[in-house]
This record gives sequence, structure tokens and C-alpha cells, in this order.
Amino acid sequence: MADFATFVLKNVLVVSLAVNMCLIWKISFEDEQTLAFSWENIRQKLHFHGCCSNGEESNGIGKDAHVSTATQILATTSSGAAPFVTDGGEGVVINLDHGDPTMYEHFWKQKGQETTVVTSSWQHISYFSDIKNVCWFLEPGLMSAITRLHKVVGNAVTEGRHIVVGTGSSQLYQAALFALSPHNASRPMNVVSAAPFYSSYPLMTDYLRSGLHKWAGDANEFSKQEPYIELVTSPNNPDGFTRQNVVKGNKGILVHDLAYYWPQYTPILLPADYDIMLFTVSKSTGHAGTRIGIDSSKRKYLHLGFILKCHSWALVKDREIAKKMTTFIEINTIGVSKDSQIRAAKILQAISDSCDHANQKDAETFFDYSYKLMAQRWKEIREAVKKTKLFSLPNFPQETCTFSGRTFGQLPAFAWLRCEGEVDDCESFLRRNKILTRGGKHFGGSTKYVRISMLSRENEFKLLIQRLPAIIS
Ligand SMILES: Cc1ncc(COP(=O)(O)O)c(C=O)c1O
Repeated sequence: MADFATFVLKNVLVVSLAVNMCLIWKISFEDEQTLAFSWENIRQKLHFHGCCSNGEESNGIGKDAHVSTATQILATTSSGAAPFVTDGGEGVVINLDHGDPTMYEHFWKQKGQETTVVTSSWQHISYFSDIKNVCWFLEPGLMSAITRLHKVVGNAVTEGRHIVVGTGSSQLYQAALFALSPHNASRPMNVVSAAPFYSSYPLMTDYLRSGLHKWAGDANEFSKQEPYIELVTSPNNPDGFTRQNVVKGNKGILVHDLAYYWPQYTPILLPADYDIMLFTVSKSTGHAGTRIGIDSSKRKYLHLGFILKCHSWALVKDREIAKKMTTFIEINTIGVSKDSQIRAAKILQAISDSCDHANQKDAETFFDYSYKLMAQRWKEIREAVKKTKLFSLPNFPQETCTFSGRTFGQLPAFAWLRCEGEVDDCESFLRRNKILTRGGKHFGGSTKYVRISMLSRENEFKLLIQRLPAIIS
């Protein structure tokens, strides 16, 4: 009897062990699937919605990017990520949707130690950087590097300005809207920009459904007798033109987004002198962001990291506005990463140093390098477009740059390409030819236009130049 009981007990144990193993395996398998799925979701969002590089909205290319399993996508996200091209490039999808400034990577690689920052674990521990400053989390080293660079380039007045630092100019944009919208108004503040406008503005304005402000569209069509904020992007994203404010009313506040007011993109004519000016290292030096991996607490998925963005800054005339912008960032992220600020300061100082010593050293300055590269790329894309009747590009007036002494027309970070003739949906047309771009409608413009990034790595750009003239239909 005792033997029989032991036999039954053993069997029950074995069965129970098997059931438990199955359960454990099932849970862990599902967990991994869920995690893998959510990672894939996040990866797609970050990659295809462009928020890792510039926070711009998606144009729904995620699904279309996977054209076929045999098709390769020439990724822009990392130098190691570009797949090996085996077929002369015809099968490769070229992704030029985002303005990811990887073209500058080569220059910075050559700099090596000169721009390397080493940080010990005991450094940068405090929340505070300079409690006497309106922007108390602004590192003094970054403040002097920003001031010095604007002086060297001559692109903005810094005297009598407060510098507010942000995690990307997207955060500063929201800080400016927060600071400029009355908090006791019966209606939200109107936010406008002349079309074609930077595709992130509507998104960033309305994303949190704030009661303080709302996107009110194309500034050219704004005729309400109500207060408004007008965003003036100059040179403009997406079309590259120099801009002024357009709304005729007298109830407006202007915010100047000068992300591209640097001498590789446009002749610098005079130091910008506006009430609120936004700048970013994303487009000036090309340091759009550094992703770091953190343990997301779920075992091996180490890549679900946060984005450690390099910095943008606002030059703000009014102390109260600067204070409110600082409050926004305080509530939002309790300041801005010091490690990133110190890295940004080092890079900006290196650029100023090289400009100061330009005549004594053989080494090329960053702005010389980036100007020559942009000029070469624009020459090549214009030649490629000339070979076909299907497309056209805007032309820009020539002006003399006070920084370099060179006379040239704009060399925008994006090509605002028009599909001529019958083609009404230029984005889909190019997508069929495996070139991913952002269609005009995302910028409040016509679908006959697309925006193509000019800031990619050389291999992607070269493929674009080969492919454009080869397109027949
Ligand atoms: C006009 C304009 N402003 C701001 C930004 C975003 O800059 P950041 O990367 O600093 O958020 C971009 C990026 O594409 C831009 O085109």
C-alpha cells in the first residue's frame, strides 16, 4: 500500500513538474514575444517617425519600407547599420525621409582626441549648474562656448540676451509656447507658420492637447483678430528660403527658429537680432543625438534606452520669458543633462578654436568642410535633376557671406523637389522607385513636392544621384 502511495506521489510530482515547466516556458516565451513586439514597435516609431533625430512626424513609411524581403534599406541610423550593397544599389531602398545629419560624422571622426570628453562617475552629480543664472541648469562652459561661437560666426546677437538650454530645440519650442501663451485666457493661443512649414510644428503644438495653445495653420491664411504666435524658420525647413514674418496683425509674438542659420547652409548677412531665437547643435555641428542603452529592468532588452540629445539653446531678450521657459524645462525634465552640455561645449569650442586659427593651421575648419560638402552635393543633385524632365528644384539668389567672404546661393539641408508633369503624388512616385522622402502635405504644402534630406552619409547620397536621372516612370 505504502509502495503504491509512493508510486502515485512520484507520478503526480513528475506530471506536475512537466506542467510547471510548460507553464514557465509558455510565460517566458510570451513575455519575450511581447517584449520583442514592443521593442519592434518602439524601434519602428523611433526609426520611422524620426523622433530620434528630429522629432518630426511619420509619413507612414514604416510599412512601405519593407518593400520585399529581398529589398535592402540603406539605414541612416548608424555607420555600422548600412547593409552591404551587393547589386550595384538598384535593390536598395534609400531612406532620405529624416534630416539625420550623418554627413558630418567623417569630419568628427578625424578630430579624435580633440573633441573627446572623459567624465568620472563623481562628476556632474548635482542638479545645479549656476544658481545665479536665470537658467540655473545651464553649464557655464556651454554658455561661454555658445556666446563665443555666435561672435565668431556673426550669426546672432548675444549681448543683453538670456541663454536657455534645452534637450533638443523641440523642448525649447514647447517651453517657448508655454512661456508666451497667457495662462488665464478664455481661448488657447493661436500658433501659426507660413506653409510650407516644419512638419513637427503642428504635432508639437497640439500633442498634449494643452489648453494654452493650439495649431492654427498656415500663417499666410491667418486673418483672425486674435493673439497669435508666429514661427519664422529661416532658412526654412523644408524649402530652404530665407524668411520674414508674414501675418499682418499687430497682436502677434514672433519666435525665430534659426536651426539652419549657419554658414554651410546660407550666406550669413548679419547677426540675427530678434526677441526669441532658437538654435540647435543638431544642424549646426551635426550632433543630433547620442542614444545610450539602459537596462529597462526586463532582462536582456538593453536597447530600450532613452535619448540623450545634444543641445539646443534659445537667446531670449525678456528676462520673464526666459524664466518661464526655464520653469517649463524644470517641470518637464528638471534641467538638462550636464554630460551632454559639457560634450556640446567641447564641440562648439573646437569649432571656434579652428576658426580662430584658420590662417595659422593647415587643418580645415568645420564650416569650410561642411560648406564644401554641401556645395558639392547641391552641384551634383542639380546636375542629376537636369538630366530628366520629371523633376525641378528651387533656385536661390546669390549673396555674400560676412563670415566666409564667399558669394553663393542657399545650400539647404533639404532638397524641396517638385515632380513635374502628370505626377501629383511625388512621395508615392519616388517610393515606387525606392526613394523614401517626406511628401509636401506634411508641411502644409502640395503633394507635388517632396523633401529630401541632403545630410545623409555619402553612400546614400551617391545612390540618390545615380537613381534620380534613371527614373522613367
Ligand atoms: C527648423 C527646425 N527646428 C528644430 C529642429 C529640431 O532640432 P532638435 O534636434 O534640436 O530638436 C529641426 C530638425 O529637423 C528643424 O528642422
